[in-house]
Amino acid sequence: MSDFETSEKAQTTPMLEPRGCKVALLSGGSSGEREVSLASGKGAQQALEAAGFLVTMLDPSCKDDLKALIDGDFDIAFLCLHGKGGEDGAMQGFLEVIGLPYTGSGIWSSALSIDKAKAKVFYQSAGIKTPESMTIGNPAQASLRTVVEDLGLPCVVKPVCEGSALGVYIVETEDELQKALNDLSSISSNALVERFVSGRELTVAVLGNEKPEALPVIEIIPQNEFYDYESKYSPGGSQHLCPAPIGEQATKDVQQMAIAAHVALGCSGVSRSDFILDEAGELWILETNTIPGMTKTSLLPDAGRAAQIGFSDLCVRLIAYALAGRK
Ligand SMILES: Nc1ncnc2c1ncn2[C@@H]1O[C@H](COP(=O)(O)OP(=O)(O)O)[C@@H](O)[C@H]1O
Ligand SMILES: [Mg+2]
Repeated sequence: MSDFETSEKAQTTPMLEPRGCKVALLSGGSSGEREVSLASGKGAQQALEAAGFLVTMLDPSCKDDLKALIDGDFDIAFLCLHGKGGEDGAMQGFLEVIGLPYTGSGIWSSALSIDKAKAKVFYQSAGIKTPESMTIGNPAQASLRTVVEDLGLPCVVKPVCEGSALGVYIVETEDELQKALNDLSSISSNALVERFVSGRELTVAVLGNEKPEALPVIEIIPQNEFYDYESKYSPGGSQHLCPAPIGEQATKDVQQMAIAAHVALGCSGVSRSDFILDEAGELWILETNTIPGMTKTSLLPDAGRAAQIGFSDLCVRLIAYALAGRK
């Protein structure tokens, strides 16, 4: 019996018969997160095959694979793509055009969520606190004095539309700020500079379409200075505490905020929002991922396990939500 059938929570999942269901599993792509995506894809492939699906692995950076996606008589596309071209609405648009259902959020929600600056506008209008920030288009022309006066030091510099902590810098001086903006200009046309929030790092996954539910909260303890690429993907690079030892009230609050973010950004199926709990007990949202990582060290599978939702079960649910129709 698969863990899909044994999980207590699975009773709320729409009915789904995996046998004979043909899944195009998309991983790879051409974003900076390609390697993570391939690792996510491998994990999901095993999980879906164990549940009885017929899985074909396709890489959208390969033209022949795109043709196979169009011609392949698939029932569903399962997206394990991260970053540009996969998580930003582009692939979702392609799949809409060819009429193939797909897991996760739709075009608009994907495009909005990946843009950390635009997502902030929606967080704020939903009453979710997010650190003050400025978007800088041209680092050479930016007035660093104004940035530092407005946001203080240290501050955080990051690309507006990348993930996996690629190009995230925590800077302590105006010189470091200038250098970070210059470095970033090679990978991103604009940069988000954000107030640094000192505190504990939390992440909350949310599952569902109409009535989304939050999974248990994870506290991340990175080995490095912050939750950078190495902490995220090397074994032992960070410790995940789940459920996070932050008390009942903060747990409820952050789960509600994650659900509110999922709704405000129009997410479907799954999302995972990152937060900082500061020293005064305030919660600040950093971002929402619409295709969270599915590698062995990833956060979403960990949160699922803490809610008695095994990895296979989790993948099956994502398909079930997609087939039930996004809002
Ligand atoms: N405003 C901030 N204050 C403190 N730390 C931050 C801030 N923004 C980002 N970080 C650190 O950088 C990491 C990556 O930033 P995040 O905004 O989640 O981008 P992504 O995960 O998409 O690269 C966070 O997990 C956190 O460790
Ligand atoms: Mg993050």
